[in-house]
Amino acid sequence: MRSLLLLGSTGSIGRQTLDLLRAEPGSHRVIGLAARRSIDVLGAQVDEFRPPFVAVVDEEAAETIRPRLPAGTRLFSGPAALEEIALEVDYDVAVHGVVGAAGLPPSVRVLERGKTLALANKESLVMAGALLVALAREHGGEIVPVDSEHSAILQCLRGERLDRVRRVVLTASGGPFRSASPEELARATPAMALRHPNWNMGPRITVGSATLMNKALEVIELHHLFGLERERIEVVIHPQSIVHSLVEFVDGSVIAQMGPPDMRGPIHYALHHPDRAPSDLRGFDLSRFKSLTFEAPDPVRFPALELGFRCVEEGADAGSVLNAADEVAVEAFLQGEIGFPDIARINRRVLDRRPGLCGSVADLLRADRLARTCAREEVEGLGARTRAPA
Ligand SMILES: NC(=O)c1ccc[n+]([C@@H]2O[C@H](COP(=O)([O-])OP(=O)(O)OC[C@H]3O[C@@H](n4cnc5c(N)ncnc54)[C@H](OP(=O)(O)O)[C@@H]3O)[C@@H](O)[C@H]2O)c1
Repeated sequence: MRSLLLLGSTGSIGRQTLDLLRAEPGSHRVIGLAARRSIDVLGAQVDEFRPPFVAVVDEEAAETIRPRLPAGTRLFSGPAALEEIALEVDYDVAVHGVVGAAGLPPSVRVLERGKTLALANKESLVMAGALLVALAREHGGEIVPVDSEHSAILQCLRGERLDRVRRVVLTASGGPFRSASPEELARATPAMALRHPNWNMGPRITVGSATLMNKALEVIELHHLFGLERERIEVVIHPQSIVHSLVEFVDGSVIAQMGPPDMRGPIHYALHHPDRAPSDLRGFDLSRFKSLTFEAPDPVRFPALELGFRCVEEGADAGSVLNAADEVAVEAFLQGEIGFPDIARINRRVLDRRPGLCGSVADLLRADRLARTCAREEVEGLGARTRAPA
Protein backbone atom coordinates (compact mmCIF):
# COMPACT_ATOMS: atom_id res chain seq x y z
CA MET A 1 0.00 0.00 0.00
CA ARG A 2 1.47 3.39 -0.99
CA SER A 3 1.19 6.32 1.39
CA LEU A 4 -0.36 9.51 0.07
CA LEU A 5 -0.10 13.16 0.97
CA LEU A 6 -2.99 15.18 -0.48
CA LEU A 7 -2.34 18.90 -0.90
CA GLY A 8 -5.53 20.85 -1.63
CA SER A 9 -7.79 18.04 -0.38
CA THR A 10 -10.88 20.29 -0.19
CA GLY A 11 -10.82 21.38 -3.85
CA SER A 12 -12.15 19.73 -6.98
CA ILE A 13 -8.98 17.65 -7.61
CA GLY A 14 -8.62 16.83 -3.92
CA ARG A 15 -12.21 15.60 -3.56
CA GLN A 16 -11.99 13.52 -6.73
CA THR A 17 -8.76 11.93 -5.46
CA LEU A 18 -10.56 10.88 -2.29
CA ASP A 19 -13.48 9.54 -4.38
CA LEU A 20 -11.00 7.24 -6.10
CA LEU A 21 -9.55 6.06 -2.80
CA ARG A 22 -13.06 5.25 -1.55
CA ALA A 23 -13.57 3.13 -4.65
CA GLU A 24 -10.14 1.45 -4.30
CA PRO A 25 -9.77 0.72 -0.59
CA GLY A 26 -6.35 -0.73 0.16
CA SER A 27 -4.54 0.99 -2.72
CA HIS A 28 -3.28 4.03 -0.77
CA ARG A 29 -3.10 5.10 2.85
CA VAL A 30 -3.83 8.80 3.39
CA ILE A 31 -0.99 10.06 5.53
CA GLY A 32 -1.73 13.79 5.30
CA LEU A 33 -4.47 16.17 4.20
CA ALA A 34 -3.84 19.86 3.52
CA ALA A 35 -6.03 22.84 2.64
CA ARG A 36 -6.25 26.59 3.06
CA ARG A 37 -9.38 27.21 5.15
CA SER A 38 -12.38 25.02 4.16
CA ILE A 39 -12.46 23.33 7.54
CA ASP A 40 -15.95 21.84 7.32
CA VAL A 41 -14.97 19.79 4.28
CA LEU A 42 -11.53 19.07 5.73
CA GLY A 43 -13.02 18.04 9.09
CA ALA A 44 -15.30 15.50 7.39
CA GLN A 45 -12.33 14.17 5.36
CA VAL A 46 -10.26 13.79 8.55
CA ASP A 47 -13.11 11.89 10.24
CA GLU A 48 -13.33 9.53 7.30
CA PHE A 49 -9.66 8.97 6.36
CA ARG A 50 -8.00 9.48 9.78
CA PRO A 51 -4.67 10.88 8.51
CA PRO A 52 -2.03 11.30 11.23
CA PHE A 53 -1.03 14.71 9.76
CA VAL A 54 -3.15 17.72 8.75
CA ALA A 55 -2.12 21.14 7.43
CA VAL A 56 -4.22 24.32 7.33
CA VAL A 57 -2.76 27.53 5.90
CA ASP A 58 -5.23 29.97 7.43
CA GLU A 59 -4.27 30.28 11.13
CA GLU A 60 -7.76 31.14 12.37
CA ALA A 61 -9.22 28.19 10.49
CA ALA A 62 -6.46 25.97 11.94
CA GLU A 63 -7.39 26.95 15.50
CA THR A 64 -11.06 26.22 14.77
CA ILE A 65 -10.31 22.71 13.50
CA ARG A 66 -7.70 21.87 16.17
CA PRO A 67 -10.17 20.70 18.89
CA ARG A 68 -12.05 18.58 16.33
CA LEU A 69 -8.97 16.52 15.37
CA PRO A 70 -8.62 12.99 16.76
CA ALA A 71 -6.06 12.65 19.58
CA GLY A 72 -2.54 12.24 18.25
CA THR A 73 -3.15 14.05 14.96
CA ARG A 74 -0.38 16.55 14.27
CA LEU A 75 -1.53 19.90 12.88
CA PHE A 76 0.70 22.18 10.79
CA SER A 77 -0.67 25.72 10.51
CA GLY A 78 0.21 29.07 9.00
CA PRO A 79 1.54 30.30 5.66
CA ALA A 80 4.31 27.63 5.52
CA ALA A 81 2.04 24.72 6.61
CA LEU A 82 2.04 23.01 3.20
CA GLU A 83 5.81 23.21 2.90
CA GLU A 84 6.20 21.84 6.44
CA ILE A 85 3.91 18.87 5.92
CA ALA A 86 5.64 18.12 2.58
CA LEU A 87 9.04 18.24 4.31
CA GLU A 88 8.38 16.43 7.56
CA VAL A 89 5.91 13.66 6.82
CA ASP A 90 6.81 10.35 5.20
CA TYR A 91 4.89 9.52 2.02
CA ASP A 92 5.40 7.84 -1.35
CA VAL A 93 3.35 10.15 -3.52
CA ALA A 94 2.00 13.67 -3.09
CA VAL A 95 -1.10 14.59 -5.08
CA HIS A 96 -0.94 18.35 -5.47
CA GLY A 97 -4.33 19.93 -6.12
CA VAL A 98 -3.73 23.39 -4.69
CA VAL A 99 -4.75 26.21 -7.02
CA GLY A 100 -2.45 29.09 -7.91
CA ALA A 101 1.09 30.30 -7.23
CA ALA A 102 0.80 29.21 -3.57
CA GLY A 103 1.42 25.70 -4.91
CA LEU A 104 5.03 26.35 -5.94
CA PRO A 105 6.83 26.14 -2.54
CA PRO A 106 5.28 22.75 -1.61
CA SER A 107 6.14 21.39 -5.09
CA VAL A 108 9.76 22.33 -4.43
CA ARG A 109 9.71 20.56 -1.04
CA VAL A 110 8.22 17.34 -2.42
CA LEU A 111 10.84 17.16 -5.15
CA GLU A 112 13.72 18.07 -2.83
CA ARG A 113 12.81 14.92 -0.93
CA GLY A 114 12.96 12.82 -4.08
CA LYS A 115 9.26 11.89 -3.91
CA THR A 116 6.68 11.39 -6.66
CA LEU A 117 4.74 14.57 -7.32
CA ALA A 118 1.36 13.87 -8.95
CA LEU A 119 0.90 17.42 -10.11
CA ALA A 120 -2.40 19.11 -10.90
CA ASN A 121 -1.07 22.49 -9.74
CA LYS A 122 0.04 23.57 -13.21
CA GLU A 123 1.05 26.96 -11.82
CA SER A 124 4.17 25.35 -10.27
CA LEU A 125 5.40 24.30 -13.69
CA VAL A 126 4.34 27.51 -15.39
CA MET A 127 6.29 29.55 -12.85
CA ALA A 128 9.36 27.39 -12.32
CA GLY A 129 9.25 24.44 -14.72
CA ALA A 130 12.98 24.35 -15.45
CA LEU A 131 13.80 24.42 -11.73
CA LEU A 132 11.31 21.70 -10.81
CA VAL A 133 12.43 19.37 -13.58
CA ALA A 134 16.05 19.88 -12.46
CA LEU A 135 15.10 19.17 -8.83
CA ALA A 136 13.32 15.95 -9.80
CA ARG A 137 16.40 14.84 -11.72
CA GLU A 138 18.84 15.80 -8.95
CA HIS A 139 16.96 14.07 -6.10
CA GLY A 140 15.56 11.07 -7.95
CA GLY A 141 11.93 12.20 -7.71
CA GLU A 142 9.37 12.33 -10.46
CA ILE A 143 6.72 14.74 -11.73
CA VAL A 144 3.64 12.89 -12.97
CA PRO A 145 1.14 15.27 -14.57
CA VAL A 146 -2.50 15.14 -13.52
CA ASP A 147 -3.77 17.64 -16.09
CA SER A 148 -5.75 15.45 -18.50
CA GLU A 149 -3.89 16.68 -21.61
CA HIS A 150 -0.42 16.10 -20.13
CA SER A 151 -1.46 12.75 -18.70
CA ALA A 152 -2.63 11.87 -22.22
CA ILE A 153 0.72 12.86 -23.71
CA LEU A 154 2.63 10.93 -21.05
CA GLN A 155 0.56 7.87 -22.01
CA CYS A 156 1.08 8.42 -25.76
CA LEU A 157 4.83 8.72 -25.21
CA ARG A 158 5.25 5.49 -23.24
CA GLY A 159 8.19 3.66 -24.76
CA GLU A 160 8.79 6.36 -27.37
CA ARG A 161 11.80 8.63 -27.96
CA LEU A 162 11.24 12.39 -27.74
CA ASP A 163 13.41 13.01 -30.80
CA ARG A 164 10.93 10.88 -32.77
CA VAL A 165 8.09 13.31 -31.97
CA ARG A 166 7.14 15.61 -34.86
CA ARG A 167 4.55 17.58 -32.88
CA VAL A 168 2.25 17.38 -29.90
CA VAL A 169 -1.33 18.59 -30.23
CA LEU A 170 -3.02 19.79 -27.05
CA THR A 171 -6.80 19.69 -27.24
CA ALA A 172 -8.99 22.42 -25.74
CA SER A 173 -12.76 22.28 -25.30
CA GLY A 174 -13.10 25.92 -26.35
CA GLY A 175 -15.11 26.61 -23.19
CA PRO A 176 -18.55 28.21 -22.96
CA PHE A 177 -17.75 31.04 -25.44
CA ARG A 178 -16.34 28.94 -28.28
CA SER A 179 -18.87 30.31 -30.78
CA ALA A 180 -19.44 33.72 -29.16
CA SER A 181 -19.05 36.90 -31.20
CA PRO A 182 -16.70 39.68 -30.00
CA GLU A 183 -19.81 41.63 -28.87
CA GLU A 184 -21.04 38.66 -26.85
CA LEU A 185 -17.59 38.25 -25.29
CA ALA A 186 -17.64 41.90 -24.25
CA ARG A 187 -20.94 41.28 -22.39
CA ALA A 188 -19.92 37.93 -20.82
CA THR A 189 -20.65 37.75 -17.09
CA PRO A 190 -18.87 35.68 -14.41
CA ALA A 191 -21.89 33.35 -14.15
CA MET A 192 -21.68 32.66 -17.90
CA ALA A 193 -17.90 32.09 -17.77
CA LEU A 194 -18.27 29.67 -14.85
CA ARG A 195 -20.66 27.42 -16.83
CA HIS A 196 -18.22 25.01 -18.47
CA PRO A 197 -19.84 22.68 -21.02
CA ASN A 198 -17.82 19.52 -20.18
CA TRP A 199 -15.80 19.82 -16.96
CA ASN A 200 -16.72 20.62 -13.36
CA MET A 201 -13.68 22.43 -11.92
CA GLY A 202 -12.62 25.22 -9.56
CA PRO A 203 -13.38 28.85 -10.57
CA ARG A 204 -9.89 29.91 -11.68
CA ILE A 205 -9.39 27.09 -14.19
CA THR A 206 -13.01 27.35 -15.38
CA VAL A 207 -12.58 31.02 -16.30
CA GLY A 208 -9.22 30.07 -17.84
CA SER A 209 -11.01 27.55 -20.05
CA ALA A 210 -13.29 30.34 -21.27
CA THR A 211 -10.44 32.78 -22.10
CA LEU A 212 -8.11 29.94 -23.29
CA MET A 213 -5.59 31.21 -20.72
CA ASN A 214 -5.75 27.75 -19.18
CA LYS A 215 -4.52 26.36 -22.50
CA ALA A 216 -1.79 29.03 -22.59
CA LEU A 217 -0.61 27.82 -19.17
CA GLU A 218 -0.75 24.23 -20.41
CA VAL A 219 1.46 25.10 -23.38
CA ILE A 220 4.12 26.30 -20.90
CA GLU A 221 3.55 23.21 -18.73
CA LEU A 222 4.01 20.96 -21.77
CA HIS A 223 7.21 22.72 -22.78
CA HIS A 224 8.78 22.09 -19.37
CA LEU A 225 7.45 18.60 -18.70
CA PHE A 226 8.55 17.08 -21.99
CA GLY A 227 11.27 19.52 -23.10
CA LEU A 228 9.33 20.47 -26.24
CA GLU A 229 10.09 23.72 -28.02
CA ARG A 230 7.39 26.05 -29.41
CA GLU A 231 7.62 24.68 -32.97
CA ARG A 232 6.52 21.21 -31.85
CA ILE A 233 3.49 22.38 -29.83
CA GLU A 234 0.03 22.96 -31.31
CA VAL A 235 -3.42 23.59 -29.88
CA VAL A 236 -6.68 22.45 -31.44
CA ILE A 237 -10.25 23.07 -30.31
CA HIS A 238 -12.12 19.81 -29.70
CA PRO A 239 -15.49 20.64 -28.14
CA GLN A 240 -16.38 17.07 -27.07
CA SER A 241 -13.27 16.73 -24.78
CA ILE A 242 -12.95 13.03 -25.66
CA VAL A 243 -9.51 13.11 -27.31
CA HIS A 244 -7.38 14.39 -24.44
CA SER A 245 -4.36 15.10 -26.65
CA LEU A 246 -2.36 13.63 -29.55
CA VAL A 247 1.25 13.00 -30.50
CA GLU A 248 2.41 12.85 -34.11
CA PHE A 249 5.66 10.96 -34.71
CA VAL A 250 8.31 11.43 -37.41
CA ASP A 251 6.83 8.60 -39.49
CA GLY A 252 3.46 10.38 -39.71
CA SER A 253 1.73 8.08 -37.18
CA VAL A 254 -0.53 9.81 -34.68
CA ILE A 255 -1.33 8.37 -31.25
CA ALA A 256 -4.24 9.86 -29.29
CA GLN A 257 -5.43 9.13 -25.78
CA MET A 258 -9.22 9.15 -25.33
CA GLY A 259 -11.77 8.84 -22.59
CA PRO A 260 -14.82 10.56 -21.15
CA PRO A 261 -14.20 14.01 -19.64
CA ASP A 262 -13.62 12.80 -16.07
CA MET A 263 -10.60 13.98 -14.09
CA ARG A 264 -10.64 10.79 -12.05
CA GLY A 265 -9.07 9.07 -15.08
CA PRO A 266 -5.82 11.08 -15.07
CA ILE A 267 -5.73 11.17 -11.24
CA HIS A 268 -6.06 7.37 -11.14
CA TYR A 269 -3.29 7.05 -13.73
CA ALA A 270 -0.98 9.34 -11.72
CA LEU A 271 -1.73 7.51 -8.45
CA HIS A 272 -0.59 4.19 -9.91
CA HIS A 273 2.04 5.34 -12.42
CA PRO A 274 4.02 3.59 -13.91
CA ASP A 275 1.50 0.76 -13.44
CA ARG A 276 -1.83 0.79 -15.26
CA ALA A 277 -4.07 -0.37 -12.46
CA PRO A 278 -7.66 -1.58 -12.88
CA SER A 279 -10.52 0.80 -12.03
CA ASP A 280 -14.30 1.00 -12.30
CA LEU A 281 -14.10 4.18 -14.40
CA ARG A 282 -16.09 4.23 -17.62
CA GLY A 283 -14.27 3.77 -20.94
CA PHE A 284 -15.00 5.54 -24.22
CA ASP A 285 -18.33 4.37 -25.66
CA LEU A 286 -17.98 4.89 -29.44
CA SER A 287 -21.72 4.66 -30.04
CA ARG A 288 -22.44 7.70 -27.82
CA PHE A 289 -20.42 10.05 -30.01
CA LYS A 290 -21.58 10.38 -33.60
CA SER A 291 -18.80 12.83 -34.40
CA LEU A 292 -15.60 14.14 -32.89
CA THR A 293 -14.77 17.56 -34.29
CA PHE A 294 -11.60 19.64 -34.39
CA GLU A 295 -11.08 23.28 -35.34
CA ALA A 296 -8.27 25.85 -35.13
CA PRO A 297 -8.42 28.31 -32.22
CA ASP A 298 -9.34 31.90 -33.16
CA PRO A 299 -6.44 34.18 -32.09
CA VAL A 300 -8.57 37.31 -32.45
CA ARG A 301 -11.39 36.33 -30.09
CA PHE A 302 -9.04 34.39 -27.79
CA PRO A 303 -5.75 36.35 -27.68
CA ALA A 304 -4.73 34.78 -24.35
CA LEU A 305 -3.55 31.58 -26.03
CA GLU A 306 -0.66 33.28 -27.84
CA LEU A 307 0.70 34.55 -24.51
CA GLY A 308 1.54 30.98 -23.52
CA PHE A 309 3.66 30.50 -26.67
CA ARG A 310 5.29 33.85 -26.01
CA CYS A 311 6.30 32.70 -22.50
CA VAL A 312 7.83 29.51 -23.92
CA GLU A 313 10.01 31.68 -26.19
CA GLU A 314 10.92 34.29 -23.58
CA GLY A 315 11.51 31.94 -20.62
CA ALA A 316 12.96 33.42 -17.39
CA ASP A 317 10.18 34.94 -15.26
CA ALA A 318 7.61 35.20 -18.09
CA GLY A 319 5.54 32.23 -16.85
CA SER A 320 5.52 33.55 -13.28
CA VAL A 321 4.41 36.97 -14.47
CA LEU A 322 1.68 35.66 -16.77
CA ASN A 323 0.28 33.37 -14.10
CA ALA A 324 0.24 36.11 -11.43
CA ALA A 325 -1.39 38.62 -13.78
CA ASP A 326 -4.06 36.09 -14.69
CA GLU A 327 -4.82 35.24 -11.05
CA VAL A 328 -5.40 38.95 -10.33
CA ALA A 329 -7.35 39.59 -13.54
CA VAL A 330 -9.62 36.54 -13.09
CA GLU A 331 -10.38 37.58 -9.51
CA ALA A 332 -11.17 41.15 -10.68
CA PHE A 333 -13.46 39.73 -13.39
CA LEU A 334 -15.25 37.49 -10.88
CA GLN A 335 -15.71 40.54 -8.60
CA GLY A 336 -17.27 42.49 -11.48
CA GLU A 337 -14.40 45.03 -11.66
CA ILE A 338 -13.43 44.34 -15.28
CA GLY A 339 -14.99 42.83 -18.40
CA PHE A 340 -14.18 39.39 -19.85
CA PRO A 341 -11.92 40.65 -22.71
CA ASP A 342 -9.97 42.75 -20.17
CA ILE A 343 -8.48 39.56 -18.66
CA ALA A 344 -6.30 38.85 -21.71
CA ARG A 345 -5.62 42.57 -22.19
CA ILE A 346 -4.28 42.92 -18.64
CA ASN A 347 -2.24 39.74 -18.93
CA ARG A 348 -0.53 41.01 -22.09
CA ARG A 349 0.18 44.45 -20.63
CA VAL A 350 1.68 42.99 -17.44
CA LEU A 351 3.82 40.62 -19.53
CA ASP A 352 5.04 43.63 -21.55
CA ARG A 353 6.15 45.24 -18.27
CA ARG A 354 7.81 42.14 -16.74
CA PRO A 355 10.95 42.73 -14.71
CA GLY A 356 13.04 40.00 -16.38
CA LEU A 357 14.09 38.22 -13.18
CA CYS A 358 15.26 34.64 -13.29
CA GLY A 359 17.29 32.16 -11.35
CA SER A 360 16.03 31.05 -7.96
CA VAL A 361 12.56 30.26 -6.64
CA ALA A 362 12.88 33.47 -4.60
CA ASP A 363 13.38 35.46 -7.84
CA LEU A 364 10.34 33.86 -9.44
CA LEU A 365 8.21 34.52 -6.38
CA ARG A 366 9.40 38.14 -6.44
CA ALA A 367 8.43 38.42 -10.11
CA ASP A 368 5.03 37.00 -9.10
CA ARG A 369 4.59 39.71 -6.43
CA LEU A 370 5.65 42.54 -8.77
CA ALA A 371 3.30 41.25 -11.47
CA ARG A 372 0.37 41.23 -9.01
CA THR A 373 1.00 44.90 -8.15
CA CYS A 374 1.26 45.70 -11.83
CA ALA A 375 -1.95 43.80 -12.64
CA ARG A 376 -3.82 45.61 -9.83
CA GLU A 377 -2.69 48.94 -11.35
CA GLU A 378 -4.04 47.80 -14.71
CA VAL A 379 -7.36 46.73 -13.14
CA GLU A 380 -7.70 50.09 -11.37
CA GLY A 381 -6.69 51.95 -14.54
CA LEU A 382 -9.40 50.16 -16.51
CA GLY A 383 -11.94 50.84 -13.75
CA ALA A 384 -11.05 54.55 -13.74
CA ARG A 385 -11.40 54.76 -17.53
CA THR A 386 -14.79 52.98 -17.37
CA ARG A 387 -16.00 55.40 -14.65
CA ALA A 388 -14.67 58.57 -16.40
CA PRO A 389 -17.42 60.82 -17.80
CA ALA A 390 -17.69 60.74 -21.61
N1 LIG B 1 -10.51 20.81 -11.26
C1 LIG B 1 -10.07 20.19 -12.33
O1 LIG B 1 -10.80 19.42 -12.94
C2 LIG B 1 -8.67 20.42 -12.82
C3 LIG B 1 -8.25 19.84 -14.03
C4 LIG B 1 -6.92 20.01 -14.43
C5 LIG B 1 -6.05 20.76 -13.66
N2 LIG B 1 -6.49 21.33 -12.52
C6 LIG B 1 -5.56 22.14 -11.73
O2 LIG B 1 -5.57 21.66 -10.39
C7 LIG B 1 -5.38 22.74 -9.47
C8 LIG B 1 -6.54 22.77 -8.50
O3 LIG B 1 -7.71 23.08 -9.22
P1 LIG B 1 -9.15 22.88 -8.59
O4 LIG B 1 -10.10 23.08 -9.71
O5 LIG B 1 -9.17 21.61 -7.82
O6 LIG B 1 -9.22 24.14 -7.59
P2 LIG B 1 -10.25 24.40 -6.41
O7 LIG B 1 -11.43 23.53 -6.52
O8 LIG B 1 -10.43 25.86 -6.36
O9 LIG B 1 -9.44 23.90 -5.10
C9 LIG B 1 -8.26 24.54 -4.71
C10 LIG B 1 -7.63 23.85 -3.50
O10 LIG B 1 -6.44 24.60 -3.18
C11 LIG B 1 -6.54 25.06 -1.82
N3 LIG B 1 -5.93 26.39 -1.78
C12 LIG B 1 -6.37 27.51 -2.39
N4 LIG B 1 -5.53 28.54 -2.13
C13 LIG B 1 -4.57 28.06 -1.33
C14 LIG B 1 -3.43 28.64 -0.70
N5 LIG B 1 -3.15 29.93 -0.83
N6 LIG B 1 -2.65 27.84 0.05
C15 LIG B 1 -2.95 26.53 0.19
N7 LIG B 1 -4.02 25.93 -0.35
C16 LIG B 1 -4.82 26.69 -1.11
C17 LIG B 1 -8.03 25.10 -1.51
O11 LIG B 1 -8.23 25.04 -0.11
P3 LIG B 1 -9.58 25.69 0.55
O12 LIG B 1 -10.72 24.89 0.00
O13 LIG B 1 -9.38 25.49 1.99
O14 LIG B 1 -9.61 27.12 0.11
C18 LIG B 1 -8.50 23.86 -2.26
O15 LIG B 1 -8.20 22.71 -1.50
C19 LIG B 1 -5.26 24.00 -10.33
O16 LIG B 1 -3.91 24.26 -10.57
C20 LIG B 1 -5.94 23.62 -11.64
O17 LIG B 1 -5.43 24.33 -12.75
C21 LIG B 1 -7.77 21.19 -12.08
